[in-house]
Amino acid sequence: MRTANEKQTEPTPFELLLDQKKIAERIGQMGRTITRDYAGKRPFVIGVLKGCVVFLSDLMRQITLPMEIEFISGAKYRHGKVGDDELVSTAGKLIRARNRDVLIVEGIVDTGHTASELLKRIRLLEPASVEIVTLLDKPGSHRTKIDVKYRGFSIGNDFVVGFGLDNTQLYRNLPFIGRMLDH
Ligand code: IMP
Ligand code: MG
Repeated sequence: MRTANEKQTEPTPFELLLDQKKIAERIGQMGRTITRDYAGKRPFVIGVLKGCVVFLSDLMRQITLPMEIEFISGAKYRHGKVGDDELVSTAGKLIRARNRDVLIVEGIVDTGHTASELLKRIRLLEPASVEIVTLLDKPGSHRTKIDVKYRGFSIGNDFVVGFGLDNTQLYRNLPFIGRMLDH
């Protein structure tokens, strides 16, 4: 059945890649795995905006552990041009990760530059542990060696939208993942 969001944007420049049911099931599994792996711990979840929003709001409700959450701007750290080694939340607060079990949550890992830059910076803060969590991973697009511990789905190199991911800031509100046509 077509959703309201699909109708709203007709004619659609994308086709369905992952539907809501499939995504929800996978996020449920990921939440259970993380809950098991971090039993007895209090994960410090750092969401990479804006792409993480929909995924993280679903994932965090599937993690049945005490946890904390912060947000950082992906665009700010993506190219490694920020001068200092400090990590600042979108609310302007210094992120403290010393002895914490950090989970960096992204909507998608493409070249891997954002994730590897953030890993580098968080490791400088001497956390107890740090891992990458992403809804989507494009292993064929990685340009840097990156160890993604938790991934929802591996996809091809197509440009995708929806579930928090944009094309020129649009389509983040689609409740499914679409593959852009002619992109
Ligand atoms: P990176 O190349 O792994 O550093 O990812 C950079 C960012 O590019 C991601 O966080 C997304 O915001 C964006 N991006 C990469 N591929 C896609 C895509 O297929 N759809 C939407 N955004 C994407
Ligand atoms: Mg984007």
